[in-house]
Amino acid sequence: MAAAALSQLREKIARSQRVVALTGAGISAESGVPTFRGQDGLWRQYRAVDLATPQAFQRDPRLVWEFYQWRRRLLQPLKPNPAHLALAALEEAVPEFTLITQNIDGLHALAGSRRVLELHGNIWHLRCTGCGVVREDRRLDLPALPTCADCGAWLRPHVVWFGEMLDPEILAAAVAAVENCQVLLVIGTSGLVQPAASLGRRAKQRGAFVAELNLEPTPQSDLYDLALHGRAGVLVPQLLEPER
Ligand code: OAD
Repeated sequence: MAAAALSQLREKIARSQRVVALTGAGISAESGVPTFRGQDGLWRQYRAVDLATPQAFQRDPRLVWEFYQWRRRLLQPLKPNPAHLALAALEEAVPEFTLITQNIDGLHALAGSRRVLELHGNIWHLRCTGCGVVREDRRLDLPALPTCADCGAWLRPHVVWFGEMLDPEILAAAVAAVENCQVLLVIGTSGLVQPAASLGRRAKQRGAFVAELNLEPTPQSDLYDLALHGRAGVLVPQLLEPER
């Protein structure tokens, strides 16, 4: 029963020193960010290979930038929702809380989360393809092909594209956090993209209590101790409510 499961999860969190949350596009859906694989999902409308690969950027950097500028314009007015806010509050309540996200929208930081491991980068950060410098840049009026103020090379969005490696330091920190945590919350992710998809299994193998919070069951649901189905904006704040 959902109420009993929720109560069990609250109790596990209350007794834990180390809690980790792994989030995906579903947590930002109620803020108005499109997911990737749902009915109106981004990868249902666009071919990722044309827009989100290093080859696409080499072939047609202007087209790739047009796509990311469009996404930046869509994201810019969006606000964190109650699920983002609840995770920021959980960070304050739990002795050691780590937030790992696959999202590039920056909404966790806007909600007040301080320690966020952004596995797939951040769309508001630009990286120089020449000297590698990374800078935050929230302008919506970037040139069609922005260049580095230091060395003049092209800038690219500081996000992980298909076929690219994740930042090894961020990945190592995420793996260490899930391997040492007592509770892992897997929120709003389809669990289809590696290596993020394997983090739940790792936590489970190390003895953590793993709970999935998602609109619907996923291919990973059966691996976990508990699954709560519903909107993240409703479910995640319920984790903070006192037991009645
Ligand atoms: P997906 O679009 O694959 O999955 C979104 C998940 O969120 C699904 O399981 C939905 O059921 C769930 N969901 C949707 N709305 C929800 C809501 N309101 N509350 C709770 N759950 C909800 O997105 P991700 O799993 O994040 O990578 O995708 C992983 C990666 O694939 C992304 O980071 C991106 C993409 O290609 C890169 O760009 C590198």
